[in-house]
Amino acid sequence: MRAKGLGAKVIVTEVDPIKAMEAVMDGFSIMPMNKAAEIGDFFVTVTGCNGVITEKDFMKMHDGAICCNAGHFDVEVDVACLRRISVESHLARNNIMAYKLSNGNTINVIAEGRLVNLAAGDGHPAEIMDMSFAIQAQSALYLVKNKNKLTEKIINVPKEVDRAVAERKIKFWGFEIDKLTPEQEKYLNSWNA
Ligand SMILES: NC(=O)c1ccc[n+]([C@@H]2O[C@H](COP(=O)([O-])OP(=O)(O)OC[C@H]3O[C@@H](n4cnc5c(N)ncnc54)[C@H](O)[C@@H]3O)[C@@H](O)[C@H]2O)c1
Repeated sequence: MRAKGLGAKVIVTEVDPIKAMEAVMDGFSIMPMNKAAEIGDFFVTVTGCNGVITEKDFMKMHDGAICCNAGHFDVEVDVACLRRISVESHLARNNIMAYKLSNGNTINVIAEGRLVNLAAGDGHPAEIMDMSFAIQAQSALYLVKNKNKLTEKIINVPKEVDRAVAERKIKFWGFEIDKLTPEQEKYLNSWNA
């Protein structure tokens, strides 16, 4: 969405049909990675999966294409494969490796394919970390308060914790939102009963 806002034509590649449908409804094009590889100038993976961009994709990319990963370790963009199949490589700029392929094209990889915002940027901005830390602190408090009720299993962050943090963030921004009246709550709950 940020890239789109800056004027980029953004293509989403997905394996989940529901997410893919949402992407189309949000105004993005969707297609398989191997097709997008032919078109894209800048590739960002954020899947948590391995082998998202691999040899067959690298071989279709434009000369000068740039790849990076904001998802999982260094396995989403298959950098090990690039190292293996490239005929030459050099440091193009600080934190950007250029790999020349046998077809003459050069593919650039930022930060060795590791989490780009952490490895090549300045990490997360305070505006994000304040919410993460607030959720962690509130979750710890929830655990202490509810220790006798909880069983030994992983539990999701309770909605009330998410809500409490969101409410404070909105207040900090200086915005206000509406609140359900008791009648509205009763009305909505009558559907869930
Ligand atoms: N860089 C950061 O600061 C940062 C922040 C949060 C999360 N993450 C990481 O980002 C990754 C994604 O997290 P998320 O919460 O968005 O997960 P998510 O499950 O909500 O989204 C991942 C999406 O990738 C899709 N996907 C999975 N495998 C795919 C594949 N092979 N090809 C195409 N699409 C595929 C899934 O269908 C899903 O829609 C995780 O590895 C997470 O740890 C990074």
